[in-house]
Amino acid sequence: MDQIIKISPSILSANFSKLGDEILSLENAGADYIHIDVMDGHFVPNITIGPEVIKRLRPVTKKIFDVHLMISPVDKYVKDFAESGADIITFHPEATDNVDKTIKLIKKFNKKVGISLKPKTQVSLIEKYLNEIDLILIMSVEPGFAGQKFMPEILPKIKAIKSIVDKKKLNIDIEIDGGINFQNSKSVKDAGANVIVSGSTIFKENNGNLKKNIELLRTN
Ligand code: DX5
Ligand code: ZN
Repeated sequence: MDQIIKISPSILSANFSKLGDEILSLENAGADYIHIDVMDGHFVPNITIGPEVIKRLRPVTKKIFDVHLMISPVDKYVKDFAESGADIITFHPEATDNVDKTIKLIKKFNKKVGISLKPKTQVSLIEKYLNEIDLILIMSVEPGFAGQKFMPEILPKIKAIKSIVDKKKLNIDIEIDGGINFQNSKSVKDAGANVIVSGSTIFKENNGNLKKNIELLRTN
């Protein structure tokens, strides 16, 4: 149970007029990864940022850019996101007609590969790919917007994935994304998540005290 917890703040809740400064502040506050939510208004109802913005942010920090692609089709844009400086590229299996091909494409650019599961997406859909990927992102809200309510019914899914990962002795991050706060952070860690994504809690709680909020999510 004593695993190292990494915090990946989502910049979706940052001030978009000064994204570079916000990322620096997150770095200084102890963030491990920087979670970048990319939405296309098609795979999900919201539109956020694209590779050009990520490219401009890249020189600001050496922190790992944990890029969560909520776009479809995904293959067409992998090259752009890889070249923009993403370190981990995570996609949804529903956004490609060939999951294997997308994994290989991301690896071709020497990037780490993540697969994301929406709340209703079954583990069985991606189980066979677990050997080939670096991260599994479990959504605890419907993808699309920051500030939604955590869905506790996904806890068994974290546990199921954790037990497969342990049984197969895989070295992959189990990341949880959506509605994480100081009340539910312990439950997701106990279930087996080792990377916590958070937007609203990190940017809004305790008057936006990033350091305190990151620390509380890590230790709570
Ligand atoms: C939702 C995004 C999340 C979200 C996290 O589609 O993938 O990363 O912005 O924000 P909070 O922590 O506010 O739920
Ligand atoms: Zn996300």
